[in-house]
Amino acid sequence: MINLGIEAVVNGQKIALDVQPTERLTATLRQRLGLTGTKVGCDAGDCGACSVLLDGEVVCACMVAASQIDGREVMTAEALENDDLGRRLQAAFQRHGAAQCGICTPGMLISAFAAIRTGADLSEEAVGDALGGVLCRCTGYRKIIQAVIASTLEDVSWKADEALSDVHADAAVGCSVPRVDGIQKIDGRELFGADGIPENALSLKVIRSPYHHARFTFGDLQAFIEARPGLERILTADDVPGVNRHGVIPAFVDQPVFAEGRARFKGEAVAAVLGDPEAIERLKVDDMPLTFEELPACLEMEAAAEKGATAIHDERPGNLLAAGKVLCGDVEAGFAKADVVLERHIETPFIEHAYIEPEAGFARRVGDRIEVQCCTQAPYMNRDALADILGIEAEQVRILPTAVGGGFGSKLDLSTQPYVALAAWLTGKPVGLVYSRPESMMASTKRHPASINMRAGVTREGQITALTFDGRFDTGAYASWGPTVANRVPVHAGGPYTLPNYRAEARAIHTNGPVAGAFRGFGVPQAGIAQETLYDQLADAIGMDRLAFRLKNALDNNIPTVTGQSFRDGVGIKACLEALQPHWARACADKENVDRGRGAAGVGIACCWYGCGNTALPNPSTIKLGLRRDGSVVLFQGAVDIGQGSNTVIAQMAADALGLPLDVFRLESADTDQTPDAGKTSASRQTFISGMAAKRAGEALRQDLLRHANASGEARLDLQERVLRVVEGDAIREVMLESLPVDEAGFVALVEETFDPPTTPLDDNGQGEPYALFGYGAQMVELMVDVELGTVSLTKVTAAHDVGRAINPQLVEGQVEGGIAQGIGLALMEDYRPGRSENLHDYLIPTIGDVPEVETIIVEEPASAGPYGAKGLGEHVLIPTAPAILNAIYDATGAVIEELPATPDRVLAAIESGPGANPQGPNHEPG
Ligand code: FES
Repeated sequence: MINLGIEAVVNGQKIALDVQPTERLTATLRQRLGLTGTKVGCDAGDCGACSVLLDGEVVCACMVAASQIDGREVMTAEALENDDLGRRLQAAFQRHGAAQCGICTPGMLISAFAAIRTGADLSEEAVGDALGGVLCRCTGYRKIIQAVIASTLEDVSWKADEALSDVHADAAVGCSVPRVDGIQKIDGRELFGADGIPENALSLKVIRSPYHHARFTFGDLQAFIEARPGLERILTADDVPGVNRHGVIPAFVDQPVFAEGRARFKGEAVAAVLGDPEAIERLKVDDMPLTFEELPACLEMEAAAEKGATAIHDERPGNLLAAGKVLCGDVEAGFAKADVVLERHIETPFIEHAYIEPEAGFARRVGDRIEVQCCTQAPYMNRDALADILGIEAEQVRILPTAVGGGFGSKLDLSTQPYVALAAWLTGKPVGLVYSRPESMMASTKRHPASINMRAGVTREGQITALTFDGRFDTGAYASWGPTVANRVPVHAGGPYTLPNYRAEARAIHTNGPVAGAFRGFGVPQAGIAQETLYDQLADAIGMDRLAFRLKNALDNNIPTVTGQSFRDGVGIKACLEALQPHWARACADKENVDRGRGAAGVGIACCWYGCGNTALPNPSTIKLGLRRDGSVVLFQGAVDIGQGSNTVIAQMAADALGLPLDVFRLESADTDQTPDAGKTSASRQTFISGMAAKRAGEALRQDLLRHANASGEARLDLQERVLRVVEGDAIREVMLESLPVDEAGFVALVEETFDPPTTPLDDNGQGEPYALFGYGAQMVELMVDVELGTVSLTKVTAAHDVGRAINPQLVEGQVEGGIAQGIGLALMEDYRPGRSENLHDYLIPTIGDVPEVETIIVEEPASAGPYGAKGLGEHVLIPTAPAILNAIYDATGAVIEELPATPDRVLAAIESGPGANPQGPNHEPG
């Protein structure tokens, strides 16, 4: 291939390069100029993460050939800090919490920069238009819009680290301090999985099954390699020195690193080709000596569960992976007491996580150890799994998590890690692997499709007397988190209500679909859709206000849940509903006055609860905290921050417990050689569990320091440079840190504390104490339905969430807004089709124009089990959105949607066949 010589100006610097005609500008910027602030999310112009300015115009660098910049000027996110406007934008993003994981942030900043530079007035709508080409999966866009508008208005002399020093000792908890790791997210220097791969690393191409179910055989792989310069070797199952399996639950480790003669889903890895990056680029997979024989595939749960269906795993007859149940009271007697009994059926599809960062990482062998740098939510789980695969001790594996550009559950499972680790282990050379968007969408885990039947009975007075739930969840070809879904769903399926007579059963069933794993809620969002929409129909049937119906049945302190567990404090669902009451009254009145045109206005409400942490299993986190002679407090925080803000809130809690301000803290992020195991980032557990461990560590270090000064627990600590001052009444003692002995790591004091929330196993009827606490929430959606087109446009979401104690209110709002955006996708547009959904133009997620105004109401009903009363939040916030939207559609049109997403054709069909094809909605005339 003939290279082309180009000259251009990049970020104000003249450059001259020889580029290949097919080279993308993203590759030039990232690999040849080291400007990794330009992120790659799709290589198809869909996500906008790679937005740069070309002669002042926003372009997706992935869609621009490097040769096209010849004689032109390029500006990337790294140059923003050299410009007043750029610095204003960066400061506003940090101040307003507009960056969560940060992978979309450079693209957002560049697009906003271009829009503001035009000098046009920036309304919310104009910002939406300007940023419409950049996708964000974390924030729900609201804080991004606020930040962009604020950047045109605010004083920008503000710096994030100055803001940290404004937070005084004992006052960090409850304060919206900016992210402690926020600066690198807004200046383009945050390193994600694809950003730190060394130049000399070999590349890998994972070869995957093109069929949902197939047998395969290899020909002469060695001859294939020898005929192609630059290729090193082909790895197959035969090359795995340890166990050719991985998984996330010890009893269900079943997914091969490389399939052994039979592939069970489309996209399953069968081999990997290793070579230099150019040779891998040239590789034609069709030329490989690899023959597939397509076999009949079972993609429907119904068929997979049928008697006589082909077993996807011989040891799992009926394709049943796992089942869970909760039984309490006497269901039949409960139904007998009911005045009205209704049933509900709901179907939901696979949902793609669609994080903007595809999976990526690299590995290098260091003596008899392997180091893997990767985007992951679970470093210690990765470490143990890789040790098993390589047949080595866990201590021989070091996991160095990069920043995670969105995870939402899927990056709990292994992706690139076994391939790079195995290749580096066997060759002794560094090896990198970055999934393409289609590869990510094909190979990563999904939200379980669900088929749910529910039945509930209610008295005329509005008391629920009985409820049954039967849910089947398509867990795909391998186990992943299927057993967790089967166990968690029955506990949650009735919602946060008093249900004396209850039977819930959930089954995870194998198909030849993609592996279904963890996705924000472990099946509870799907169950919540069925349950909360059924409750609206029940309220409607007895002519009761839908909020009042929920309030009447809401769980409370000292009332047993369906597993027989009672909480003496912190049950906040009533408080959430009460917080929504005035908004509900206003919205119900407003919709009567809306100018409808051909539209119908609706208001919907839905609730959630969610147990924080593992279900009825041990779940510890350990945090280490030390004081150095230089006066810095080092927080060894191994809980991976995937954008939700755990780095910040855990530091806030440790700071207050210690009694020193946040600005003396230095964060030592997750590294399995350095930080103790703080567990995986999932199940809304980090604020609660790692937070409690951090609080205990802060308290223990405080006790240590007070002992040095012989002071009581009432004393106040103060650190000035290298002097610790202990103030007690009028007495001030000064401890020269330089004078204190240090341990081998240089600490004058070092503590390590662990917290494992108290739970008990569930018995055969699902009775026990599965979680030490739950979080609660209620959301209200206002919308319009076009009754001729079936389109739904959201007007506003009002969300009341009980977080126990808002450690950082701005981060709470960010979680709520981001969860709502994902709930909107679940309700209205997202539908992953195995083998067909390959990119972000055929799998739609909410854009900036799809998320309406969100009003967050923070409810604080402290739970004594949580640190400072705090509960988790990350998963709760997604659960009520979709049912609240469906309930608002029902309210507007009477349409009962049975199959998600509620696309216009389904909405229209449901309007036509629904019980209340009345644009006024069925609940206007209470029965
Ligand atoms: Fe936008 Fe994560 S912050 S994708």
